[in-house]
Amino acid sequence: MGYQVAVVGATGNVGREILNILAERNFPIDEMTALASSRSRGLEVSFGERAALKVRALEDFHFKGIDIAFFAAGSKVSAQYAPKAAQAGAIVIDKTSHFRLDADVPLVVPEVNPEALENCGRKNIISSPNCVVVPLVVALKPLDQVARIKRVVASTYQSVSGAGRPHMDELYNQTRGTFVNDPVEAQLFPKPIAFNVIPHIDDFRSNGMTGEEEKIALETQKILGSSVAVFATCVRVPVFIGHSISVAVEFEEKITVAQARAALEKSPSVEVFDRHREGGYATPVECSGEDRVYVSRIRQDTTVPHGLGLWVVTDNLRKGAALNGVQIAERWVALISGKHAKSRHLQKSKKN
Ligand SMILES: NC(=O)c1ccc[n+]([C@@H]2O[C@H](COP(=O)([O-])OP(=O)(O)OC[C@H]3O[C@@H](n4cnc5c(N)ncnc54)[C@H](OP(=O)(O)O)[C@@H]3O)[C@@H](O)[C@H]2O)c1
Repeated sequence: MGYQVAVVGATGNVGREILNILAERNFPIDEMTALASSRSRGLEVSFGERAALKVRALEDFHFKGIDIAFFAAGSKVSAQYAPKAAQAGAIVIDKTSHFRLDADVPLVVPEVNPEALENCGRKNIISSPNCVVVPLVVALKPLDQVARIKRVVASTYQSVSGAGRPHMDELYNQTRGTFVNDPVEAQLFPKPIAFNVIPHIDDFRSNGMTGEEEKIALETQKILGSSVAVFATCVRVPVFIGHSISVAVEFEEKITVAQARAALEKSPSVEVFDRHREGGYATPVECSGEDRVYVSRIRQDTTVPHGLGLWVVTDNLRKGAALNGVQIAERWVALISGKHAKSRHLQKSKKN
């Protein structure tokens, strides 16, 4: 049996990747609908190698008969349309930040907290975390199972694709402009991004944190538990695809580098690439287009009683966003099929 699936934001970075990944992984689909703003009505987007889809305008669409709706068109769009899709009977998988901290909406990374999916029926909405939080918790969970995590300090190096498609064009145009002596003007980013780094992602809060830094702390705690203290500094860097994170982790108990490495190597979603020599570590350029979370530079932090340092890199559009959403859909399908099989079994045994 296949599903009726809709992707909202199908012309964007994350939406296009969701379409590619659904096709690549042969997700059981009977009909696929691509949705975006009315500006894109009638444009074509590719559904992997399977088809070219004509984009429909979200404002004219009613979600009747849709089983699964992916939302990747910004928080305001999710706030307005995701509840409508859920009321029409679709399960919504939301890539935006709008519902992530809602107590009635599970925030899920399937290999980290699949049990949270059991609560998805309350609003028919499942949230996928921020594109830094996904790789962070994928790398931290195996370590937390060896020794309880007490505190995490994360410094991020986030690519421009994390901000959306137009921001990639800004990096390209400023880079080109620098070489051909055109004026370099910041338009979408607050300062020039080419040949620069910007320690500011999302709006400033009254306490001096940025929205992105706050999201990383609160979402990580929602997934790993509120006892884990998290402090983040988020920086935009002139990289097209791939987010990197320098992570300092403090544990309640002793953990050695060998134990950490063994735990990470056992995780199917993690690739440990950590040779202590030139080039023996992951960088965003190599991780772009890959599905796994790469962990390098695993080392003891001797400035605290039980500490480790890590370097974590992932493709923010794939595991950081679209792939995690598709994996949520795969788990949800397995959960629903399991529940249907169980109720069929119960009905049969009642009859006998
Ligand atoms: N990029 C990442 O790494 C990443 C990771 C995690 C989460 N996210 C979240 O995912 C969402 C999408 O990000 P993105 O990077 O894919 O952005 P993007 O490349 O700028 O794409 C935005 C998409 O939203 C659509 N859209 C905008 N306004 C709309 C409206 N009023 N009605 C319907 N569709 C509308 C756009 O359609 P048009 O082309 O018609 O304008 C486009 O398809 C954001 O909330 C972002 O925070 C992104």
